[in-house]
Amino acid sequence: MARVFVTRTVPGRTLDILHEAGHETIVWPGELPPPPDDLAAALRDADAALTMVTDRVTGEMLEDSPSLRIIANMAVGYDNASPEAAARHGVWVTNTPGVLAETTADFAWSIMLAAARNVALSDRDTRAGGWKTWSPTGFLGVDLYRATLGVIGLGEIGEAFARRARGFDMHVLYASRTRKTEAERDYGFEWTSLADLLHRSDFISLHVPLNDETHHLMGPEQFARVKPGSVLVNTARGQVVDQDALVEALREGRLGGAALDVTDPEPLPLEHPLFSFPQVVITPHIASASLATRSRMGEMAAENIVDALAGKEPPHAVNRPVSPRPSSSTP
Ligand code: NAP
Ligand code: GLV
Repeated sequence: MARVFVTRTVPGRTLDILHEAGHETIVWPGELPPPPDDLAAALRDADAALTMVTDRVTGEMLEDSPSLRIIANMAVGYDNASPEAAARHGVWVTNTPGVLAETTADFAWSIMLAAARNVALSDRDTRAGGWKTWSPTGFLGVDLYRATLGVIGLGEIGEAFARRARGFDMHVLYASRTRKTEAERDYGFEWTSLADLLHRSDFISLHVPLNDETHHLMGPEQFARVKPGSVLVNTARGQVVDQDALVEALREGRLGGAALDVTDPEPLPLEHPLFSFPQVVITPHIASASLATRSRMGEMAAENIVDALAGKEPPHAVNRPVSPRPSSSTP
């Protein structure tokens, strides 16, 4: 029987899948993630780990966990899981691509609309007794319909997000490493450079993974190029944006607003200047949080573990261990 450490309570059939394959599960009971020392201790005794974006697995932890064979992240992003170090140690890292794309795209639209039309701000004001009358000048926002939408990173989520723009008669620009001619043909998206996209877009939405290339992809130089009054949407990773530069762009009125599901750090301390801007919407990293999607993400992570522990290549590997660690237990 292999031991699988699961770093949080997870929905769906996730644990059933692991049990049906004959594995033992140890679920971290806390509402908060295991602190680094507890994570390291749990990995040391585990054959597999089912981790969240909040669990930072370091090379040192991997070195210290000789029986560990797979880190199955319950997320599409895997910047927390040190895939290169894991490969060197013979450990698979897997993710959950695709299943969360539509749910995440829906949510990105919800916060983009919320920022553009003061939804969260006016709700807070109404609850605080601020609704005195219909006001011709209250909560004036900006229109999305027929505006230009710039999508940075046209992968699974970026494309799902951009497709929804057709219902708003928006023109879609995209900047991605590779050109997506099918999406251009099917949906009329226009491929352009990052600089041109920033210059022309009324709304800019980030959908790239976090890596060395995308760290602070939106920095002072990029904010200097944005169309005045445009709105930034970030459901990718907080570190894709240089947050000091974002604060400066909001302060100077270069950006009209921002909708952020991810920040740097997470959670964002309440005294952070971003909270002082009424035109900024901040949500606690919940873009994939529908019951159906989170259940499927957990189940995919479990399926990755079952395959890796059976000595097979897991279906959603993001690294390639030079020589995967052999089994130290019989399932
Ligand atoms: P994906 O399908 O891999 O798409 C990523 C896209 O980014 C690809 O099209 C890729 O280009 C592009 N890209 C990569 N590096 C780039 C760069 N330097 N410049 C421009 N484009 C670049 O991933 P996904 O499923 O859409 O997810 C994207 C990210 O969203 C995840 O990595 C995760 O961090 C984040 N996410 C957040 C939440 C949330 O709860 N807030 C939920 C899900 C995902 P190519 O096509 O050329 O490779
Ligand atoms: C969530 O942030 C994910 O990467 O799935």
